[in-house]
Amino acid sequence: MSKVLVATDKPFAKAAVDGIRKIVEEAGFSLELLEKYTDQADLVKAVADVDAVIVRSDKVTKEVVEAAKNLKVVVRAGAGYDNLDLAACTAKNVVAMNTPGQNSNAVAELALGMMVYMARNTFQPGTGAELKGKKLGIHAYGNVGKLVAHIAKGFGMEVYAFDPFVAKEVIEKDGVKVLSTVDELYSTCHYVSLHIPANDKTKKSIGYELMSKMPKGGTLINTARKEVIDEDGLMRIMGERTDLKYATDIMAEGNSTFAEKFASRYFSSPKKMGAETAEANINAGLAAANQIVNLLKNGDKTYQVNK
Ligand code: 3PG
Repeated sequence: MSKVLVATDKPFAKAAVDGIRKIVEEAGFSLELLEKYTDQADLVKAVADVDAVIVRSDKVTKEVVEAAKNLKVVVRAGAGYDNLDLAACTAKNVVAMNTPGQNSNAVAELALGMMVYMARNTFQPGTGAELKGKKLGIHAYGNVGKLVAHIAKGFGMEVYAFDPFVAKEVIEKDGVKVLSTVDELYSTCHYVSLHIPANDKTKKSIGYELMSKMPKGGTLINTARKEVIDEDGLMRIMGERTDLKYATDIMAEGNSTFAEKFASRYFSSPKKMGAETAEANINAGLAAANQIVNLLKNGDKTYQVNK
């Protein structure tokens, strides 16, 4: 009987786990759970005899892949798969997948919520501002970016996007203006919402230079990855420009310094929370379980990311 492990340092909502169990057991497989583990060694141990693994931001390193002798598939229940060692998976013939789009709405709603929170001075007394009429730049127009654009239009924002990987016409169909350089995005927009993945090209790519181009009161919203931020550069420009603001759900390495130096111009939730809704957990968790069943039973490799 194939074994499926759900390994989540940040557990899914109970309804999601129940749904995953139902799918897995109805397929004739068994389910094992490893939740809230604090030691990576626990994950290495738990994968020993499983055929499939579902994770969130949990680190599926080479050590994990090599310890999992029967592993055939690992599914990142979510969008970004920078936590999976794809080379290690490929070397061991393990299919790596994500579940694109399944938690996007949760992340998009949070991005807009953070814009309101920063526009209203982190809910401190005093005069804030409205989003209506402001220019919003979507940095990468994927599943989340597209939803952020859609919701922002409801707020009456003027929406722009930069994404060299999405055809201009596709973005324009959504009533979003396309900018051809990243510099233009930052120099045009009062708000920029980041939706780029963390990879060798994007790591530390957002910092002093881009932020210094933003108009007065410019606000950067990061619900993507902390690795894409050059924190030293960001700290420097926020020190020089006392109008700039930064809000994120992925705590900066220098969180305490940011919080101390910039007070209400900086916000970070204590734990990554973009996808922390019951709906997102259910959507992504169940999709992951279905993808595993489809792969193990029918060889369906849709959403494979290590092709
Ligand atoms: C994603 O890439 O899907 C999001 O960052 C969500 O990550 P999480 O499952 O760790 O909350």
